Amino acid sequence: MNLAIDTERLMSEVEALAAVSEAEPPAITRVVFSPADLAARSWMKKLCSAAGLSVREDAVGNTFARWNGSDAGAPIVGTGSHIDAIPNAGKYDGVVGVLGGLEAIRALQRSGFRPRHSIELLVFTSEEPTRFGIGCIGSRLLSGSLPVEAARKLIDANGESLDAVRQQAGFHDSLETVPLHADYYKSFVELHIEQGPLLERDQIDLGIVTSISAPASARISVEGAGGHAGGMLMPERRDALCAAAELILAIEAAARGSGSTDTVATVGMCEVFPGAVNSIPSRVRLSLDLRDTQLARRDAVMRTIQSAAERIASDRGVSITIEILNADAPAQCAPSVIDALSDSCRKHNFAFRPMVSRAYHDSLFISRIAPVAMLFIPCRNGYSHRPDEYASPEHIAKGTLVLAEALARLSS
Ligand code: GLV
Ligand code: MN
Ligand code: MN
Repeated sequence: MNLAIDTERLMSEVEALAAVSEAEPPAITRVVFSPADLAARSWMKKLCSAAGLSVREDAVGNTFARWNGSDAGAPIVGTGSHIDAIPNAGKYDGVVGVLGGLEAIRALQRSGFRPRHSIELLVFTSEEPTRFGIGCIGSRLLSGSLPVEAARKLIDANGESLDAVRQQAGFHDSLETVPLHADYYKSFVELHIEQGPLLERDQIDLGIVTSISAPASARISVEGAGGHAGGMLMPERRDALCAAAELILAIEAAARGSGSTDTVATVGMCEVFPGAVNSIPSRVRLSLDLRDTQLARRDAVMRTIQSAAERIASDRGVSITIEILNADAPAQCAPSVIDALSDSCRKHNFAFRPMVSRAYHDSLFISRIAPVAMLFIPCRNGYSHRPDEYASPEHIAKGTLVLAEALARLSS
């Protein structure tokens, strides 16, 4: 099989999608079910239809574009990623896996290859946690990792529920129809930028992911007492922001002290009430994102954070509650998919190495119902989730070629 990736077309599609954004270029903002997300979805569906794929959407907006195989009853070989983007993001996160997946399918079509197992491109709903506080909503539901009842309770910062918002976006079926049956997939493979510096630093073309780190996230609420910034004496204060500041540093120390660089913790959101220069903060809301490749170590760090919160609350006379939103287990990738990717890299003499994904991905959840692996492309300086995120067309083309060959092997 001789495959040719149309890099020029693929890169022009990456640019076209980047223009569908709520932020000024070069920043990308495409929050789930926002007008930009809806416009991007409809553009994507047209592209899939133009490639002769049959497109369907489920009740939460996961989009499936299928190239039918000769054995209609055989389990599916899946690929894909997401096109939603956090505020002030770059243009490659998720997008490379979706548009690269589509180009991989088109390259296979052009070569005359005919799959036995159908190959399906999946665009997952809300990989990013921006709107509803947890990431991978689409893949969690597909894999049965998020109970439908819990999904119905998800609300955004304006109090709008996922259930209402997805219906406004035109997805009316019952959420109960979303989970896939356990033998839906033969295998699943996701192409993605590394979002870290290792491949570029070691001048390696591609990374083959062997395990995916597990996230836990929490909403932290600190309740103190407000008052006049001039009148209230320092010893009398129960300042919620001062307590939150101490807790943020305790979170950082807990992650740094875990004994492994695979433990990472981030407080990325801090909301202060009432938010006036001359008013003592009475209430603070924080987000916590804690990850590790080892579940036991991550759970131990979470316990350290919880004890720090109790100590700070008692020392400062405030109350601190930590509401865990999700605490997921890490995933191991499947040898069959890893081998398909590695053999293709070897065939082309692409330098590759096995690696851990420290970011989470929809594949983490799809691994609960299918053999999965991921293919990483280097990104400049390891930058991601920022507007200057960059992956070279050469690396994207190599990743797409290897993805296409792996899809061919897995679907034969
Ligand atoms: C995905 O975007 C992540 O936060 O790992
Ligand atoms: Mn992301
Ligand atoms: Mn991503």
